[in-house]
Amino acid sequence: MPETVTITREDGVATITVDRPDSLNALNVATLEALDRTLDETEDVRALVLTGAGENAFVAGADISYMKELSVEEAMAYAELGHRVCDRIATHDAPAIAAVNGYAFGGGCELALACDLRVASENAVLGQTEIDLGIVPGWGGTQRLSRLVGDAAARRMVFLGERLDAESAAEIGLVGEVVPQEELDSVVDEMAHQLAAKPRFALAAAKEALNQVHESHQSAGLAYERRLWSGLFGTADQREGMEAFVEKRDPDFE
Ligand code: COA
Repeated sequence: MPETVTITREDGVATITVDRPDSLNALNVATLEALDRTLDETEDVRALVLTGAGENAFVAGADISYMKELSVEEAMAYAELGHRVCDRIATHDAPAIAAVNGYAFGGGCELALACDLRVASENAVLGQTEIDLGIVPGWGGTQRLSRLVGDAAARRMVFLGERLDAESAAEIGLVGEVVPQEELDSVVDEMAHQLAAKPRFALAAAKEALNQVHESHQSAGLAYERRLWSGLFGTADQREGMEAFVEKRDPDFE
């Protein structure tokens, strides 16, 4: 099977690319496991960049074709894997930048949320779109999103499943900045190299301390989220929402 995650390293900066462009870089189990393995190779790096292969997508989410028939137990295992990867990025000693180069929906938006900083290209579109599949964000989104953009904006995104263009995402603080598509790589590369040049232990301590602001309540919230998310598998709306996506039609919810 072709490797669906690639890594390049230069001057202490590791760039990890989800490389499954035919599925708009959707994160199936193999790709999440590849991301997990790839993170093993980044212990010594000083800055991480995450991005997606191709012109159109950062990561279009968890893999809907895979998810649509999952049982509650299987969904829990998938949630745990997604959480594991996101948590490893969020707690990595090195700061992580999401170079959001296109669609970042559902699990893709959550992958970006797990990073410390988000830079979007003008063509990026972001959203927690799970509601239209009959589920809710399950890889940290319910917890990390509201901490970043505030409760009201998070509720709006999660309840309505809105797809925000890059400028709208910047207005609510979901991305830190928006740059022309052709400049994204160089802007992120420069930022990553600036971070890599900072004192490593101070940066790690700064990240740990900033993470601590939310930590005491967040772990309980994440466990809660996993239970809620997995419990939706098997509901008629989950089956219908995902079936409709795969069959390229509008869902007919109960
Ligand atoms: N899971 C699995 N496959 C996905 C996917 C996902 N999350 N997102 C896109 N794909 C696949 C499509 O099924 C399609 O595969 P096919 O060529 O075998 O039919 C391919 O990627 C291209 O997607 P397509 O929908 O044809 O491209 P588009 O440009 O018309 O639309 C999106 C792009 C991103 C707007 C649309 O694919 C979409 O809405 N995806 C789902 C996003 C989502 O809800 N993600 C949250 C999941 S938790």
